[in-house]
Amino acid sequence: MNLADLNKVANAMVAPGRGILAADESSGTIKKRFDVIGVESTEDNRRDYRELLFRSKEAMSNHISGVILYDETFWQKAKDGTPLVKLIEQAGSIPGIKVDEGTQPLPGCPGELITVGLDKLAERLKKYYENGARFAKWRGVFDIGNGIPSYAAIRTNTHALARYAALCQAAQIVPIVEPEVLMDGDHSIDRCYEVTEFILKETFQELYYQRVALEGMVLKPNMAISGKKAAKRASVQEVAEKTIRMLKNTTPSAVPGIAFLSGGQSDEEATAHLDAMNRIGGLPWKLTFSYGRALQAAPQKAWSGKTENVAAAQAAFGHRARMNGLASKGEWNA
Ligand code: 13P
Repeated sequence: MNLADLNKVANAMVAPGRGILAADESSGTIKKRFDVIGVESTEDNRRDYRELLFRSKEAMSNHISGVILYDETFWQKAKDGTPLVKLIEQAGSIPGIKVDEGTQPLPGCPGELITVGLDKLAERLKKYYENGARFAKWRGVFDIGNGIPSYAAIRTNTHALARYAALCQAAQIVPIVEPEVLMDGDHSIDRCYEVTEFILKETFQELYYQRVALEGMVLKPNMAISGKKAAKRASVQEVAEKTIRMLKNTTPSAVPGIAFLSGGQSDEEATAHLDAMNRIGGLPWKLTFSYGRALQAAPQKAWSGKTENVAAAQAAFGHRARMNGLASKGEWNA
């Protein structure tokens, strides 16, 4: 492992004004997104849509530091035969790859999941690196409910996250470590804080046990935020203050940057939260975005599967990328 190079890539991923586009929806998830806009989820439509994003010059060159791809997209070529990975590189952005293989029910833990994909991961990482990937992503997922997450699910998933991260660094790939606490449900912001703080502490303990170099990774957490169905949802300022407090209590300053998931927040909400956190200032790590839905909802709607809408979709994507770029510097205004 060359830690200086890993650190360089990690720093580039969270450079001020820039953040990550999570375009790594699995075939099942992108079908759900396409259903909303009435587009059939064929291989060509998925390609055309992702090509549209990666050819958005302004957004990609100025605000998108890296793109997380799904395996199918990683090997796809644009209509003119250029590999999509090359389009991303040509825009000055870094190609990344989602390497977890989704979730399965966790035995003994009703209602809880374990993320799978460690078998053969070393071989897969080698192939991705040879073909341009410089970072990867693995998502462990936790629901908040009656008696969950259980300690068993937290131990198992954070162990898997750390195993993945160690394998990535051995393959000279920067791991995005993503323990996601879902915002489904009606829980309070304080319950989200309590659960997420515990999981982050366990995550960093596992990373330490498995000798992961924190300088060569990026953390992708959820914010401390009210459940979507909570009766009284916390304000933007409260989300910002509690998220910063939670991160200061759990995340060592050796980590170069933190790139949040949006997790079902509206796109403006996700921008406002990131901006408010960066306005607090004096932080030991860079704070930026690694948004999926909060970057793509607008362009998907504008595109709706029609060639004549490509320019409008690129403008919509460009706008959200620019707004989040400003938020990553605490310079966004509603
Ligand atoms: P969202 O921003 O839509 O939550 O997606 C980010 C992601 O990569 C989740 O794994």
